[in-house]
This record gives sequence, C-alpha cells and structure tokens, in this order.
Amino acid sequence: MSALLAIYKIPTYILDMPKTLKKPIQTVRGMRDMLPVDMPMFELIENEIRKAARDYSYGRLITPILEEYALFKRTAGEASDLVSKEMYTFEDRGGDKVVIRPELTAPAARAYVEHGLVNLPQPVKIWYLEPMLRYDRPQAGRYRQFFQGGFESFGDASPVLDAEMCIIGIRILQSLKIPVKVHINSLGDNESRTAYKKVLVAYLKQFVKKLPEDDQRRFTENPLRVLDSKEKVTKEIIADAPKITDYLSENAKEHFLKLIDYLEDLDIPYVLNPLLVRGLDYYTGTVFEFIPDSAEFITSEGKKREIPGGLLSLGGGGRYDKLIEEVGGKPTPAIGMALGIERIMNQIRERGLASVPTYKPQIFLGHIGDDARKKMMNLFDMLRSQGARVAQAFSKEGIKAQLEVAHRLGVRYSVILGQKEIVDKTILIRDMESGIQETIDFKKAVSEIMKRLSKINENLL
Ligand code: HAM
Repeated sequence: MSALLAIYKIPTYILDMPKTLKKPIQTVRGMRDMLPVDMPMFELIENEIRKAARDYSYGRLITPILEEYALFKRTAGEASDLVSKEMYTFEDRGGDKVVIRPELTAPAARAYVEHGLVNLPQPVKIWYLEPMLRYDRPQAGRYRQFFQGGFESFGDASPVLDAEMCIIGIRILQSLKIPVKVHINSLGDNESRTAYKKVLVAYLKQFVKKLPEDDQRRFTENPLRVLDSKEKVTKEIIADAPKITDYLSENAKEHFLKLIDYLEDLDIPYVLNPLLVRGLDYYTGTVFEFIPDSAEFITSEGKKREIPGGLLSLGGGGRYDKLIEEVGGKPTPAIGMALGIERIMNQIRERGLASVPTYKPQIFLGHIGDDARKKMMNLFDMLRSQGARVAQAFSKEGIKAQLEVAHRLGVRYSVILGQKEIVDKTILIRDMESGIQETIDFKKAVSEIMKRLSKINENLL
C-alpha cells in the first residue's frame, strides 16, 4: 500500500481518513446562507437604506428576535395568514408561548409604548434592517427567513408622512435602478370601512359557494381579506367587486387625495389599485406596495428573460392608526413600510442592474522570514489605524505565493520586507502598475505609503 502511495505521490494522511464521509448537514428548508460573495450587493442595498434613514431623520431600532405570541395575535389578526399559518410559535422551557418575529411593525409599536417614546417630540421615526421568519411555502422570492429594511413613524397623522414612506421606498429602489411603481389604495377610516364591508359582503354572498374553502373562511372572519386572495376563481370574482375608494368618508378621501397630490408633485410613479388590502389586519387608511413594472426584461444581447417571482412586491406598508392601542398605548397615529432585501437582490442580480462596488485593498504587505513577518504585522496595524486599505497573507511563507494574493486582489502597491532590508533598515515599495520598485527608509514607511495612497482616487465600498 505504502509503495502505491509513493508511486502516485499520495500523502500518507489519506490512510487516516474515514472510509465514508458523514452525511452532510444542510440548511433547513426555505432558509438560505448569504455568502461573502453576496455581501457587496447586500451592502449596496443596506447603504441606500441607511442613507434614506439618515436624510429623513430615522433612528435605528433593534428588537429581540423572540416576542410574546399575543403581540402578533392582537395586531396582525388571528385570521390573517401570518398568524394562522406562518408563525414559528413555540413554548419556551418556562412554558411561555413565544414567536420568532415574522415582521417588525408590531415589535416596534411595543417598544414605542414600553419605553415611553410617546414622551419624545413626535413623530418618533425609527428604521431597522433585520431577519424575519415566516413558515411560508418556499418558492422563488418566498423564503422562510428573509431580511426586511423598514421605516416606521409614530405620532403624526399627516398625509405628508404617507407620502414620505412611498417616496423613501421608490427612491431607494430607483437608486438601485429597479423599474418599479408604488401601488396605492385607501382602506379609509372606520366609517368608510363599515359602509364598504356591507356592500362587499352583499356582493360576495352571491358567489360564496364558488369560493375556495380558505376564502370562505376569510369571508366569515374578515371579508376584506377575500380581496387579498391569490386564488384564480376568487380573483375573477373580486375583479367586479365594489371598490373601497367609492365608499371613503370625506375625511378619508381628503387624506388620500393629499397623498396623491404629493406623489404627483414629486413625480413618484404610482398606480391606484382599489383592490389592494395587504395581508395584515392592523392597516387603516393608506396602504401601498412597491411592485416591479414587469417580470420580464430584455438582456443586452436582445434576449427576453423572466425573473422568477419577479412580480412579487419588493416592499409594502401603510397606516396603522389603531395598532398602538392594541399593544396597550394611548391612541397614536402611525405609518410604516418594509422592503424585502432578498427580493430586491434577485431583481438586481437577474437584471444585471446597479454596478455593485466591491472592497478593494490598495496595498499589500509581503514578508520574507519570521522576523520580517513580525515587523510587517506591526506595520499592518499602524497603516490600518491611519485608514489605509491594507491586505496581507501572513500565513504564507514564500514571497511568490504572497504576491499571487497581491495580484489577485489587484492592489496598487506591494510593500516587501526581506532579510536584506531588515539589515539595511529599509523597505521595498513596488508599484504594481508600472513595476517600478523603490527602497525607502523603514522609519519613513508609514508616511511614504500614506503619501502614495492619498494620490489614488477611487470610489469604492
Ligand atoms: P409584508 O408585506 O408582509 O409587510 O412584508 C414586506 C416585504 O417583505 C414584502 O413586500 C416582501 O418584499 C418581503 N417579504 C415578505 N415575506 C417574504 C418572504 N416569505 N420571503 C421573502 N421576502 C418576503 C410587513 O411585514 C409589514 N410589517 C410592513 C410594514 C411596516 N407595514 C407598516 N410598517
């Protein structure tokens, strides 16, 4: 056996390896890893969200992943798909019924009440970028864990804030070059909804036997939910249903018209969709969703391509003026929206949109021998603290292997310290573009390197 290993130059540790590998463990169904290669795109979107949050004065909120079950039951509604089918609910070891958050509006409202944020100048504006979990049927654009970037504004009933939410979403998506419109509707105030529910129920009653079982349940529990059905039969029936916009009270109509006026004025691409009701029970008044213009696009080679799940909403939101009361606060108007990060990433990736900047170091530190390595580890620290974009391969011994890394990274300069340079108290700087090498005094290394880097003008992440 060992002779065979020698002939084929197979290392002897092969002998110690297990005969069969263990069954690989994989991600749980519907969950996805995001690898380092995905991060430039993730961070591109994150940066646009951060910029909008900064410019519109939203402060970041981080809430726990676990919440009490009652929080979502009371706010999203027991009959909603979210609560009835999609929540990761379990009893913890102490017997408390808890939920891994499926969304962050209700937790944000809880935090607003729990921490007395009502005492701050209103509106209180918060944003978040966090993972959510929903036990949805996994398919293109629908995952069991996904990130949402969201904005919530508490304590101000002005339609200016309804417009602000639509504007923020549209501007973020436009800056990422995604062709998109905001689809808007108003669910009106209590008065409007009561009037509308009556006519809707009378209309749907004629077709109730034709509705799929799930929609019959919706019809009895909350008839407005039927409008949100994804079933073909139901969709055909509701296409001719009375429209809520015809039943808005004067106040609700005025509020909605003001929103439209702001959107018109700012050239925000919008579509009036009187059938849009959204899947959560807490909405009152304005509701909206950001929907891509099409799921198809023409590639630069002139080929037609379809984006899987390409017409799914990239984000959505609305007013929820009653929700704060549901979590134990006093009546407080509020509005918000959340963008789905993975769906946005799919759009950018599939359409080949928005150039995604990647981090690129400018300088590589190479060493020959252990003494040189220690000195370079120190120099690395100093350059980092000056803000230089440095890279290294300190675990590699040979300078050839190190310079291969430098080439792969595409750095502008390599700085090398060998035995000779240690003796001479110098260091070598090589311009990787021109190939010119200079020997400089080791003591001046930091200032000389920083001088050269300041001349590189790059627009990088
Ligand atoms: P939502 O419409 O349930 O609203 O979710 C908002 C966005 O999250 C969706 O438009 C979509 O982009 C993304 N999303 C939802 N479910 C999935 C999934 N299974 N896989 C991938 N992405 C998904 C809310 O959650 C509300 N809390 C939004 C809001 C904030 N309303 C007021 N303030």
